[in-house]
Amino acid sequence: MVRTAFINEKGGTGKTTLAVHTAAWIAENLGKKVLLVDMDPQGQVGKTLGFPARDERHPASTLLQDKEARPGDLAEPTAIDNLDVIRSDKTLASVAEKIARRKDAHRILDEKFQRYRKHDVVIFDSPPSLGILTQNILWASQNVVLPVACTYLALDGCAELIQTIDQVQEESGRKTPAVCAIVPTFRRRTRLANEILERLDEYFPDWLTDSIGFYVAVDEAQSHGKTIWQYRKRSTAAQVFNDVCAQIAARMGVK
Ligand SMILES: Nc1ncnc2c1ncn2[C@@H]1O[C@H](COP(=O)(O)OP(=O)(O)OP(=O)(O)O)[C@@H](O)[C@H]1O
Ligand SMILES: [Mg+2]
Repeated sequence: MVRTAFINEKGGTGKTTLAVHTAAWIAENLGKKVLLVDMDPQGQVGKTLGFPARDERHPASTLLQDKEARPGDLAEPTAIDNLDVIRSDKTLASVAEKIARRKDAHRILDEKFQRYRKHDVVIFDSPPSLGILTQNILWASQNVVLPVACTYLALDGCAELIQTIDQVQEESGRKTPAVCAIVPTFRRRTRLANEILERLDEYFPDWLTDSIGFYVAVDEAQSHGKTIWQYRKRSTAAQVFNDVCAQIAARMGVK
């Protein structure tokens, strides 16, 4: 079983969009059973997959808070074959505050997923911070995908995130989590964007994937609760997301 985190402490770099599309791509194209776990109190995974915004069950909060709760009991099917989801909502923020006082606070997810076998692939979407929720995700993951927006500060952010990941490896005494892909997002056709991509390629040649541009159709698809492939199968965006998600799946070691 492969567990992969999509993280960046910076907000709005395309984490959720990419996590949802990678999960859907693996489910649809490789026929693996995929569980997408939303660990962000913004709860946007559910919204982008067309679920109603309100949920009285608070699945992600329950997973963290309830000792007996197992991931398989909280997973719900989506409109996509082989793709299940554990949704989150804003109650997760207060749960995170509460558990942060526990000594083992950063290892709760890790313990829940160590012996979990009901899905072949687990993908975690994370909030834009390096707090206790992201720590839990990192401890529970073997792989990390970093979506980085093509801006001047991206390089800085990347280096810091890699340090954070190294720190978790050191503390856990394991070789995981390990970066498997850096995905440049919101790429514009400007000289600065080209320079940023060149730098990323220079510093992180083994991890860099193709870049993703800004496509209005992606935003539109999400407003309809659909993936880009369900919404505009023949668009440029659909082709680019297909190629990049295939690259990410390969880096995750999913065949
Ligand atoms: N390639 C793209 N083209 C156009 N719009 C996009 C693209 N990728 C994401 N978006 C839009 O940009 C916004 C931010 O993307 P997303 O929510 O995936 O980022 P995020 O990193 O998860 O944000 P947060 O840090 O708040 O969780 C969303 O409104 C999404 O619809
Ligand atoms: Mg997000």
